[in-house]
Amino acid sequence: MTRKGIILAGGTGTRLWPLTRAVSKQLLPLYDKPMVYYPLSVLMLAGIREILLISTPHDLTLFRNLFGDGKSMGISISYAEQPKPEGLAQAYHIGAKFIGNSPSCLILGDNFFYGSELGKLLASANSREQGATIFAYQVVDPSSYGVLTFDAQNRISSIEEKPVKPKSNWANCGLYFYDGRAVEFAKALKPSARGELEITDLSRCYMKDHSLHGERFGRGSAWLDTGTAEGLLQAAQFVQTVQTRTGLLIGSPEEVAFRKGWIDAKQLHSLADAIGKNSYAESLRQISAGA
Ligand code: G1P
Repeated sequence: MTRKGIILAGGTGTRLWPLTRAVSKQLLPLYDKPMVYYPLSVLMLAGIREILLISTPHDLTLFRNLFGDGKSMGISISYAEQPKPEGLAQAYHIGAKFIGNSPSCLILGDNFFYGSELGKLLASANSREQGATIFAYQVVDPSSYGVLTFDAQNRISSIEEKPVKPKSNWANCGLYFYDGRAVEFAKALKPSARGELEITDLSRCYMKDHSLHGERFGRGSAWLDTGTAEGLLQAAQFVQTVQTRTGLLIGSPEEVAFRKGWIDAKQLHSLADAIGKNSYAESLRQISAGA
């Protein structure tokens, strides 16, 4: 069965207030694109073309204005409301009908990934039909994330959500590949002490089942935090630095659609023309011309 994708772009974004008081965090600019472009590009890089975007009732219209039904990018995007943020695993309650018993990939709408190994890791996670794959990235202070430990055989030996005393420096990234049992597992979850359906508890179901795979990003990759004003600026500067130096785009769903062969050069050109006259559109035009 083909894998379906979910982008979770809900939440109140209080850590970024007043920036996010009136608008969803995932629509804020990350240099030259809305933040949500980056996780969407990751799903598309993984080869996923059927995507459900979950956000607040208030913000959903804005995402719809941005992407429509996704057809112009050779994908299909549908939308669902998360009226109240009651945990990341709630995505599998809201998206139960959309996912059914298909394998899926959940990505958080504020997660930024970059690196030459990304494509290969995504392809191998996507091709794994049984079990789950989650990702780890080394950070100095992992206490505000899920934290993973690995045993001598390189298997995940523990997952803890926001531990006061982290057992390792491996933060669990907001990218989760699950097999067709995710909805069933999510339905059996109980809210945590903070009243949320935790994604770490969903991953733990696979750990108990001995079918949880962990991939560690190496030194050449970047997984950046966009959850604070400082992190957001750093991520934007990262994109600006690399794009300006290389002339290559980071996080462009239009480019991924073209490179995957889901749209042709003419279609990419008209997407660029719809954006108009700016450097992002110009980069898309150059790609469509074979640059
Ligand atoms: C969530 C997850 C956490 C994960 C993080 C990645 O935390 O609960 O396990 O490490 O996303 O971005 P949140 O940032 O929603 O508090």
